[in-house]
Amino acid sequence: MTNDMKPEDKRLAGITLKNPENKMGFKPFMWNNRYSVYVDEIDEQHQHLMKLIRKMRAVVETQLDHRIQSNVLDELLDYTHYHFNTEEMLMTEYQYPFSEIHKRQHDEFTFRIQEFRADFYQGKVQTFKILSFLVNWLFDHILVSDKELGRYLNSKGIF
Ligand SMILES: [Fe+2]
Ligand SMILES: [Fe+2]
Repeated sequence: MTNDMKPEDKRLAGITLKNPENKMGFKPFMWNNRYSVYVDEIDEQHQHLMKLIRKMRAVVETQLDHRIQSNVLDELLDYTHYHFNTEEMLMTEYQYPFSEIHKRQHDEFTFRIQEFRADFYQGKVQTFKILSFLVNWLFDHILVSDKELGRYLNSKGIF
């Protein structure tokens, strides 16, 4: 990947991220209590996901070679898969009434990101576009769907 990102590309890579911390002038992708779903296991995994996103952003920003980018991308996607499994197991165990909708969101994300990954390997898409999609999706999903799941689990005594 060359270092000639267009302004539009840079906008996609960073400024469009719907992370409210951007507007408040804080370093983006840092953990903040407003992301808490008040279930320790889920919060810890979300924190780890944010850490991997920061790692991927650093790789994208420094324009490292394709192989390094793909390794970080794989690490992030593998962990996302593991994280979705954790949430889905909790949903099943505690009979979460909205599990079908929530799982569908996970499945749609997984499908989309696998398309991105295939395109990336063929050189059709750059990692910052994947990163932008991933961050937007993840923060929206945590703030709405995962928080809703967290409230339900809290009502079952799970913290
Ligand atoms: Fe989720
Ligand atoms: Fe989650």
